[in-house]
Amino acid sequence: MTGHARARRRDRRVYLAGHPVLLALLAATRRRPVLRLGPVVLVHDEQACRQVLTGLPLDRLGAGTTGAAVAAAGGGGLFDQTGEQHRTARRDLGVRLASRELRAVWQAPIDRTAATLAGGGRVDLVALAAEVGGSTAAAVLDLDVDPLVLAAAARATADATAAAHLPGRRARPVPTTLTDLVGTAAAATTAVATVSTAVAAFPRAVAWTADAGLWDAAADPVRRTVLVAELLRVTAASPLLPRVAAAEGEVAGCPVRRGDRMLLVTRHAAAAHVRNPSVADPAAPAQQQLVFGAGGHACPGAGVARAQLGDLLAALAPSRPRVVSARADRRSALPSWASLVVEATR
Ligand code: HEM
Repeated sequence: MTGHARARRRDRRVYLAGHPVLLALLAATRRRPVLRLGPVVLVHDEQACRQVLTGLPLDRLGAGTTGAAVAAAGGGGLFDQTGEQHRTARRDLGVRLASRELRAVWQAPIDRTAATLAGGGRVDLVALAAEVGGSTAAAVLDLDVDPLVLAAAARATADATAAAHLPGRRARPVPTTLTDLVGTAAAATTAVATVSTAVAAFPRAVAWTADAGLWDAAADPVRRTVLVAELLRVTAASPLLPRVAAAEGEVAGCPVRRGDRMLLVTRHAAAAHVRNPSVADPAAPAQQQLVFGAGGHACPGAGVARAQLGDLLAALAPSRPRVVSARADRRSALPSWASLVVEATR
């Protein structure tokens, strides 16, 4: 078996454990670029996904969307906003995310982890990703809270919120701990967006690097930039974007009515399920970018996520870690490991 096949087989386990119904549904329908199933339109195709995100009027508060969940929690968290209010809030967050001091916040736990590895110890990269996400969120929100406590609360909120919408999950109340910790629904949204994606993406990306033998590329600053974009593409941390049409339209020949639910499968649009990460022959930047969405609501944290993963790979590369054990998270909102333990091979 090639390294990529091994990596892909391991990565598939996070879907099989936590999102099996979703995986089966998407696999059964993915040959059609756009497919209507009753009131739901499944969008798998790259251009069609981009067209929905940038060209079709969307109801940000439509039932089942992220915006509706944010609004139900109190609102004001970008996903639910439109117009000038949205532009202002994005600008504010953008300024905070661009702060020069932010990098030191995630570099500290990364350096500590790399030192443990180099000393012969084993580390759980899920715990590290939670700390990276939690400390970044605390700094961005200007909060004096324990990053791990914040991360745990953000993950619990994300998981309970997603349970209401994911096929095969039982709905349960969303805990109030996160809002109690951070003060507002808007801050809670930023914390969830930062932490849950870090936990989903970074351990899976490192596992892929280890299983496919990509540490040489990870150690090289130029090739690492390409590798990071490719790993974020194939791990597609937010693989499904639920949206609701606000007006009539057409997507890749499929008529869409106002109020139709659309499930944008960014995992497929980014070819994560069929195209291995490659430094020599990477996917086009526009396709890599799709895992962060597109248009006015595209992820404002994409640059931070790339910088974090780049710093993590750079710090781990000298130890050439291998995966010792991996346990999938059955309750997570996004396809994630519950623990992913690595150790140095040199
Ligand atoms: C691997 C990491 C990440 C991935 C894959 C990811 C993915 C996404 C996606 C797909 C969207 C939805 C775009 C849409 O609604 O059309 C989004 C929105 C968002 N993300 Fe990220 N994200 C990541 C990291 C982050 C980080 C580090 C932050 C830090 C603040 C962040 C904050 C947000 C916010 C606030 C929004 C809402 C933007 C808006 O509605 O205007 N994300 N993200």
